Amino acid sequence: MSKKITNIAHRGASSYAPENTKAAFDLAIEMGVKHIELDVHSSKDNHLVVIHDDTLDRTTNGQGNVKDFTLKELQSLDAGSWFSEKYSNENICTLEEIISKYAESTHLHIEIKGRTLNLAQKTCTLIRSLEATDMVTITSFWKDSLVETKNFAPEMKTGWLVPMGPGSKWDNEIVEISKKYEFDQICPRAELVTKTLVSNLHREGFEVRCHGVFTEDLMRSVVSSGADGMTINFPDKLNAYLNQKGIEVD
Ligand code: G3P
Ligand code: CA
Repeated sequence: MSKKITNIAHRGASSYAPENTKAAFDLAIEMGVKHIELDVHSSKDNHLVVIHDDTLDRTTNGQGNVKDFTLKELQSLDAGSWFSEKYSNENICTLEEIISKYAESTHLHIEIKGRTLNLAQKTCTLIRSLEATDMVTITSFWKDSLVETKNFAPEMKTGWLVPMGPGSKWDNEIVEISKKYEFDQICPRAELVTKTLVSNLHREGFEVRCHGVFTEDLMRSVVSSGADGMTINFPDKLNAYLNQKGIEVD
């Protein structure tokens, strides 16, 4: 096993800094990581913002649905203190500022998380306007968001976050649907991947990029499965493991 593995900081280096903030993205870069994952929603006034949950409650000092607040209101919130007081200056970023700041040096795995109208199209329009197409991959659990992406912007690289929960058995319909819509990556939960599954997906022409890597054991099992990469909250540990094994890191 000597191929490259893509180490993607999940919501930034989110084990160590508040997820989806510049602090978490900067820390990932300090760790030598070249790929960052983040989540996108729309504000009430149609700005694209970087936050994971539909609501503000868990990761900010606000309450309610992200989509019910204007950008100005969202930007006034503290998006860091929930994690640690030392991050009290972190706020909710726009996707535009994150692409502008990071996409020259870092590949961004942009997850369409929100369910507001035309969110995928708006995201693609922004990416095009910033000439960042080659530096992003659009992902989603929502198949319709990826189909919207491919219909509107076929040049965008796409990865389907396989919507199969813990304990599920692999369903090959995922492959058929991914072929039909020409998705580039299939992204299963880490617990689902085996060497056989990965080699089957490779044979079908897909990259395999895992998510849900919650422990170092899962991290090691994804590496040994032959998958191409993973999102991970502790990308420093993946870098160290890959270095120790002599595996090249992307
Ligand atoms: O790598 C994809 C991963 O981010 C999906 O899960 O819940 O963290 O958005 P979630
Ligand atoms: Ca995500």
